[in-house]
Amino acid sequence: MSCIVLNTKGGSKSTIVVGESLESLGRLCPSNPVIITDSKVFELYGSRFPASLMVLKIGQGEAVKTLETVQGLYGRLLELGGDRSIFVLGIGGGIVCDVAGFVASTFLRGLKFGFAATTLLAQTDASVGGKNGVNFAGYKNMVGTFNQPEFVLCDTGLLATLPKSELANGFAEITKHGCIADEAYFDFLEQNASKAKDLDQEVINALVEGSVKIKAGVVSRDELEKGERTKLNFGHTFGHALEKVAGVSHGQAVAAGMVLAAKLSAARTGLAGKDVARIENLVCAMGLAPVINADRGRVVDALVKDKKRFGQSLRFVLLKKIGRSTVEEIPLDELADFYLSVTG
Ligand SMILES: NC(=O)c1ccc[n+]([C@@H]2O[C@H](COP(=O)([O-])OP(=O)(O)OC[C@H]3O[C@@H](n4cnc5c(N)ncnc54)[C@H](O)[C@@H]3O)[C@@H](O)[C@H]2O)c1
Ligand SMILES: [Zn+2]
Repeated sequence: MSCIVLNTKGGSKSTIVVGESLESLGRLCPSNPVIITDSKVFELYGSRFPASLMVLKIGQGEAVKTLETVQGLYGRLLELGGDRSIFVLGIGGGIVCDVAGFVASTFLRGLKFGFAATTLLAQTDASVGGKNGVNFAGYKNMVGTFNQPEFVLCDTGLLATLPKSELANGFAEITKHGCIADEAYFDFLEQNASKAKDLDQEVINALVEGSVKIKAGVVSRDELEKGERTKLNFGHTFGHALEKVAGVSHGQAVAAGMVLAAKLSAARTGLAGKDVARIENLVCAMGLAPVINADRGRVVDALVKDKKRFGQSLRFVLLKKIGRSTVEEIPLDELADFYLSVTG
């Protein structure tokens, strides 16, 4: 078991506990929370939830991450009399965490909340860092707040029921963390790729703990994404475009996006060819594909529509070496030319 404390410059504190079982929620959480979960997680683990005032279930999938779902949850909270002492506990993957965090952050101008993250992506990424929110008008995560959960519990035993494709989404973010911030963590993943995929308890706990430390470190220095936090978008510029156009999973798209970003790094920051090859090999070892075939014109079009665009350029994350990243503003034209040249 390990415990990581995230202190932000704004004075909030969030405690992330890795490797303890769901039953520890009884100790971490105030009594009788309102639980927000999804139908699948409830079916699998509802019998292990702590005693609660109310269990609110949402559906599964990105389509439920909307203001309509949020409104429905506000309505149910209102049935409890608009009580500001309510504690909201989100138990689920990234979608539950994002929705529950947003509902808690906005209902009555803010209720306290915590999470039990149940997917590898939520344990290594989505539950940590205090970003929450929902999709709007076809754009992902358009409406939301920055607000830290009191605690996050990561019970890695729950990952045993997770489909392989969902695990792969987590492995893409784990690879990303090694690339941008920690070569030793990258080495560890290289050496333990098979054990990680087999969910070896010791390896998976070390990976979740390492990822949480990397992300919490970045967020503690730049909670509001004014600078360094942008580095967590490594692989995501091309990744989001590929996800949209090719309709592949987030992890598959980010994996191919990281390989593209590594190749662009070789051209712009002098990332060594052997490091590009290591990233490609690790992506493959984690069961992800290094290249996604997609309609090239539509990918370029999606890049231009990136919501993080600043005028005619994008803040793009490049690697100097494995474990060291930098953010550069790159003209959209150059990104498009690069993409067309490497995929042509
Ligand atoms: N807030 C952030 O900083 C941040 C960061 C990254 C991603 N996200 C968001 O996270 C979301 C994706 O999260 P996700 O990948 O966890 O997807 P998800 O929440 O949709 O979960 C994936 C699927 O796995 C099921 N599931 C959950 N736990 C399970 C378990 N233990 N066993 C079996 N099935 C289980 C869910 O019911 C769901 O069907 C996206 O909406 C993304 O925008 C947020
Ligand atoms: Zn991601």
